[in-house]
Amino acid sequence: MSLYAIGDLHLHYGSVLKAPSQLHDPIWKKHEEKLRKNCLKMITNEDTLVLVGDHSWGKNLSQCEPDFAYIRALPGKKILTRGNHDMFWDAKKTAELNTRFSPELFFLQDNFNVYQDFALVGTKGYTFEGPFYLDGRRRIIGWDEEAEAHAKKLVEREAVRLRTSFEAARAAGFQKFVMFLHYPPTNILQERSVFTDMAEEYGACKVIYAHCHGQSRFYDSIHGEYRGVTYQLVSGDFLRWKSMKILD
Ligand SMILES: [Fe+2]
Ligand SMILES: [Fe+2]
Repeated sequence: MSLYAIGDLHLHYGSVLKAPSQLHDPIWKKHEEKLRKNCLKMITNEDTLVLVGDHSWGKNLSQCEPDFAYIRALPGKKILTRGNHDMFWDAKKTAELNTRFSPELFFLQDNFNVYQDFALVGTKGYTFEGPFYLDGRRRIIGWDEEAEAHAKKLVEREAVRLRTSFEAARAAGFQKFVMFLHYPPTNILQERSVFTDMAEEYGACKVIYAHCHGQSRFYDSIHGEYRGVTYQLVSGDFLRWKSMKILD
């Protein structure tokens, strides 16, 4: 029995592909097939697979239907967190998604799920992504302050959702946590954030995140241990479509 995670499948069986990199970068060529084969090799129905956001390019549930069919056919218990491209997922209607897709898929937001004696908690998260202003040596010398102020509001809303998830798990008696975010836990300066602070406050052993695509973005945030918590990036192209084992 193991816990696995991968993110950013960006499926488009029933919708129009929007990202140009997904057309040109060889890592994305038939990525759905690569992932399916790797999952069937590694993962059994006793395992749990957390899909860490950006599941589908579909704009609504009907466009996403073939993508959900693909996800349902993957082995293991499937848990989904919300990504910035998941237009089908109205943040206020997570409970409806859970009713509609139960027991095959679980949508993780304002709630929690369980792996052994761990609570799996999570939310989309958010981080300020610039624009940053660079000097001639590509050092950051400033950023767009209006965009930063807007980002702060989104971060605060996501922090409330994450705390709701932690508190629900704690109220149910859980003391061990694995925390999932779609966005990286920090901005590219890798400064502490409300998300790293919350992971430490509740004693999460791991923080799993995705969203960072392409070589130039893979190291935007923390990898490995930081202040007692282990951070792992699981975007699909970073993992070359092999889900990462998070816990045995
Ligand atoms: Fe993505
Ligand atoms: Fe994303």
